[in-house]
Amino acid sequence: MAKVKTKFFCKECGYESSGWLGKCPSCGSWNSFVEAKIEEPSRKRGSWVQPEENADSGSNKVQQLSQIISGDEERFSSGMPELNRVLGGGLVRGSLILLGGDPGIGKSTLLLQVSAAVAGEGRKILYVSGEESPGQIRLRANRLKLANAAIALLPSTSFTKIEEAIRQTEADFVVIDSIQTIYVPEIASAPGTVTQVREAAGGLLRLAKNLNTTIVLVGHVTKDGSIAGPRILEHMVDTVLYFEGEGQSNLRLLRCVKNRFGTTDELAVFEMRDQGLFSISDPSLFMLKGRPIDVPGLAVTSCLEGSRPLLLEIQALLTPSSYQLALRMSQGIDRLRLSLLLAVLQKALKRDFSALDCYLNVTGGIHIRETAADLAVLAAILSSSEDKSLPADLLIIGEVGLSGEIRPVSRTSRRVQEALRLGWKKFILPSQSEEELSKLALPDGCQLYYVSLVNEAVDLFFVK
Ligand code: TYD
Ligand code: MG
Repeated sequence: MAKVKTKFFCKECGYESSGWLGKCPSCGSWNSFVEAKIEEPSRKRGSWVQPEENADSGSNKVQQLSQIISGDEERFSSGMPELNRVLGGGLVRGSLILLGGDPGIGKSTLLLQVSAAVAGEGRKILYVSGEESPGQIRLRANRLKLANAAIALLPSTSFTKIEEAIRQTEADFVVIDSIQTIYVPEIASAPGTVTQVREAAGGLLRLAKNLNTTIVLVGHVTKDGSIAGPRILEHMVDTVLYFEGEGQSNLRLLRCVKNRFGTTDELAVFEMRDQGLFSISDPSLFMLKGRPIDVPGLAVTSCLEGSRPLLLEIQALLTPSSYQLALRMSQGIDRLRLSLLLAVLQKALKRDFSALDCYLNVTGGIHIRETAADLAVLAAILSSSEDKSLPADLLIIGEVGLSGEIRPVSRTSRRVQEALRLGWKKFILPSQSEEELSKLALPDGCQLYYVSLVNEAVDLFFVK
């Protein structure tokens, strides 16, 4: 008889515990533990996990690091330059990639486009769909004008069938859409539970490594937690990509949060059109295209997304409040950060903002996670409250400290270079970046102003 054990997993991060907990000690989520029955395979029957296939090839023996011959990891193009960049130079052979995102964001669309491009290079593709019928996939392919691509389809949810198909087709690139529909027949739990998702992903990891096949797992991010989310797989896979989008916008952001073969935090921007996803190779230009000029409350700053600077517009609106406690609303910037910056401005200018509602927005649905935008936030707020527009070619960079000092940010010269490329001429920058920027060759008519206090910056905001 197989022994059945009960374990509890955090459905947010996969933390394992022998008993139920109200708060996860690993990720701090409340009420996130779910029960899972784990059947330990009896000794006689053996585990469903096969022994390592290349056990005799020497890879399981102790070796000296210096004696190991390593080539560069073998990569191939995904057919989308932006995706290649996020992955650190293309798809790595034998790697397991997780693509997470809300339902309907465009994961299947992206992977069908990548499959068709990889097939076009003469590689064998297997597209496993546990959610859609081949007819539905064909409809999507028609829409994407990819109906003639050499893609093998397998509508299945059984791990055993999928393993068989991967071996039979000798596929170089496999898509599993989605991992939450796959079940391992040897395990008693239902598909989508923490146990099934982890076991199925474990089996696919073994296949990817043994057969040197690149496998992409699609994982739906679920809010209600009835099915296990992709976060519980993050530690197992080589690369984790998240697909994000904002409400009704056609803009899609693909972010790499873990990468064993490259840097993380790289961001790719796509636009969802009728014929699928299109890479946006110049997102700064795309996001600032056609922006209103000479309108109060708008300021432009530069934020680093991975290694690439991104020019972003910050919008502020200050209006007299009809509440006893004025509203502080912000999208794309932490609300507490907004309150903090307002407090600094209030103290520095000896002005009272407490009777004004303050709304803040970052265009493009981007969430700014660094402090380099602080000074630009102050500029947008002041511009709205004074009802005066900032110069259209002004870029503002700088972190604001509690005593009103302007602090330097990382890689200022990269940010300035990107803005120069797009035609920006005036810059308000932290004084400590002066040395770094003195080496920069500047075009004619370009002005750099260095500031060390909020008050100094305020004097410069409206100089046209
Ligand atoms: P899909 O790839 O099915 O999302 P996911 O796999 O992440 O659940 O994409 C679904 C949405 O994308 C759907 O609302 C329609 C839209 N879409 C387009 O706008 N253009 C297209 O060419 C395609 C195929 C889908
Ligand atoms: Mg889908």
